[in-house]
Amino acid sequence: AIAGRIDRPIVLVGLMGAGKSTVGRRLATLLRSDFIDADDAVEEAAQLSISEIFSAYGEEHFRDGERRVIARLMEERHGVIATGGGAFINEQTRQLILSNGIAVWIDCDIATLVERTSRRNTRPLLKDGDPEEILTRLYREREPFYSQAPIRVRSEQGPHLDTANRILEAID
Ligand code: S3P
Repeated sequence: AIAGRIDRPIVLVGLMGAGKSTVGRRLATLLRSDFIDADDAVEEAAQLSISEIFSAYGEEHFRDGERRVIARLMEERHGVIATGGGAFINEQTRQLILSNGIAVWIDCDIATLVERTSRRNTRPLLKDGDPEEILTRLYREREPFYSQAPIRVRSEQGPHLDTANRILEAID
């Protein structure tokens, strides 16, 4: 649930590999609130993996489901929500998050994103090409949307707990 002095869910946005899930878990611990990962919630609702949803139904269908799941998670008043990297790019999902949550952009340099996503590559968007090229293009395309988040922190240096602490400082 949402922590006492913060009245809206904290919603983490940013590219794949930025550390949204780990930073989110650390932040929830610091706040003594709960944490939920929207990608996990989508998989649970669909009873399919993200890769299976993309290959069976396509990205557009995934975005619809993702928006509905995020809307439900915000209504359920979870304390900290990590979103999939493309969620905040969808117009309706972004408006939903901006109106009902505190959006935080976890920004990170490309080299680190490449490094982190290569450890466990389950991302359908990275499987058909050179991850560095794809991430560079996605960064350029998505930056105008991510920068609409009122709070931005970088995650390439230091442990994710430090990033979580910097989010707390920015919010307080
Ligand atoms: C996506 C990011 C993924 C997942 C899906 C699409 C994207 O989430 O939602 O593969 O469009 O950037 P993570 O950012 O948690 O990897």
